[in-house]
Amino acid sequence: MERGVLRRLVVASNRLTVATDTRARAGGLAVALLEVMQSHGGLWFGWSGKITAKTPAKPTRTRSGAITYATVDLSRKNYAEYYNGFANRSLWPLFHYRLDLTAFNKQNYSGYLQVNTLFASKLRPLLEPDDLIWIHDYHLIPMGEELRKTGIKQPMGFFLHTPFPPMEILTALPSHHALVRAICAYDLVGFQTENDLRAFLDYVVHEADGGMMGDHLVHAFGRTLKVEVFPIGIDTEYIVKTGLMAPRSGLAKRLMTFPGDYDRIIGVDRLDYSKGLVERFHSFERFLENYPAYRGRVMLMQIASPSRSEVPEYRDICRVLEAKAGHINGRFAEFDWVPINYLNKSFTRHNLIGLYRASRIGLVTPLRDGMNLVAKEYVAAQNHHDPGVLVLSRFAGAARELDAALIVNPYDFDAVADAIASGLEMSLEERRERWTAMMETVRNNTFQSWGKSFLKVLKKAPYE
Ligand code: UDP
Ligand code: G6P
Repeated sequence: MERGVLRRLVVASNRLTVATDTRARAGGLAVALLEVMQSHGGLWFGWSGKITAKTPAKPTRTRSGAITYATVDLSRKNYAEYYNGFANRSLWPLFHYRLDLTAFNKQNYSGYLQVNTLFASKLRPLLEPDDLIWIHDYHLIPMGEELRKTGIKQPMGFFLHTPFPPMEILTALPSHHALVRAICAYDLVGFQTENDLRAFLDYVVHEADGGMMGDHLVHAFGRTLKVEVFPIGIDTEYIVKTGLMAPRSGLAKRLMTFPGDYDRIIGVDRLDYSKGLVERFHSFERFLENYPAYRGRVMLMQIASPSRSEVPEYRDICRVLEAKAGHINGRFAEFDWVPINYLNKSFTRHNLIGLYRASRIGLVTPLRDGMNLVAKEYVAAQNHHDPGVLVLSRFAGAARELDAALIVNPYDFDAVADAIASGLEMSLEERRERWTAMMETVRNNTFQSWGKSFLKVLKKAPYE
């Protein structure tokens, strides 16, 4: 992204990454925004990741290269109600079509609104008249409306990294009306896929008495805003370069010299029920049952990085997965081979890229996912002379773009097992053909181009 843009970019997100922090962390939003902020520069506002007895009067300001960070600590109560509560026990499951896991609670909703008001009030004094403001994800939906209440007129955009649920699901949320009204306080709203945009428009037309006016313009709640699809990309060049070096360094080198002649299947996910990990283990078990010739010859390396472990539904899935991995290993392992290498920890992206490259199959089977960057990273990390095969859920946003992958329904264990077998048996010619098509998409749509296209449209606001 060019640096010469005159207007300062102000980004707000719950989670942020400090450029100098090299610890292993999982989560697509922070990875993507770091890249955008590093190339564009500007102010990045959000939660410090710390919990304190009292929220300090002013945000803590630090600088790293072109990025100025302004971060706010949260009180234990705010953290429990806003982050663990409404964001991750109501909105996250609901937005991933999991009404069965969605918990509603007035107290949590009130905490969510309080933190959004608090964030708006802390950001407000830092804003300059020419700023472009870009707010991210389900944690901060009401923040824009709160800023508007304080008289903010600058162009304000919002990007939803998760899916947007169908109207029938969204309306189960008691505060659905207020939530969509808050979305309409932005000038530009970006979604990952056409499917999400359609669901939003459906709500606007049928529940909010709004209307579409052409050229992506929508009129609702007394405002005119633009709504568009901006599928998020990856830092393709970095991954390609790191992939090239991988066989000579880090974990990939160790893996390749590790005794045992296995084909590797890799899965990399936050430990989240939306990622379909339990179903993936069922499918892998089905593969071992249906294709016994592969026993002893194929290993699934599943990285499940710990996530939101104070939320009960996340603790539950953790227990279920441990039991399932143990069951499959107990059932099929031999003295010199285990079918599943289950790693309940985070890896640096550098190491992940090496692991992707050393794996014959990338198994990405979420039950619902806004985009899924891991799918794109797996493609970018491959050796073009001998690329691996991506097996991808039709319910990941990435499936819209990566249609040359082996697309599967993650609920259909037999079909996923068949796709794994097809991937292992696929000719070099077909693997290359599919990879070339996916690589073209991944090269054309990067973090940089994603940020650039969003900001290009945002700069033209207001649209009336
Ligand atoms: N990731 C990582 N270390 C890990 C696991 C994941 O750095 O141990 C990164 C991964 O490379 C990707 C991001 O976290 O960039 C996950 O993004 P994705 O869109 O796949 O899923 P999300 O976690 O955002 O739902
Ligand atoms: C998803 C969400 C992000 C979130 C990330 C990691 O990608 O869309 O907003 O930052 O998961 O989750 P966490 O709760 O650790 O921030």
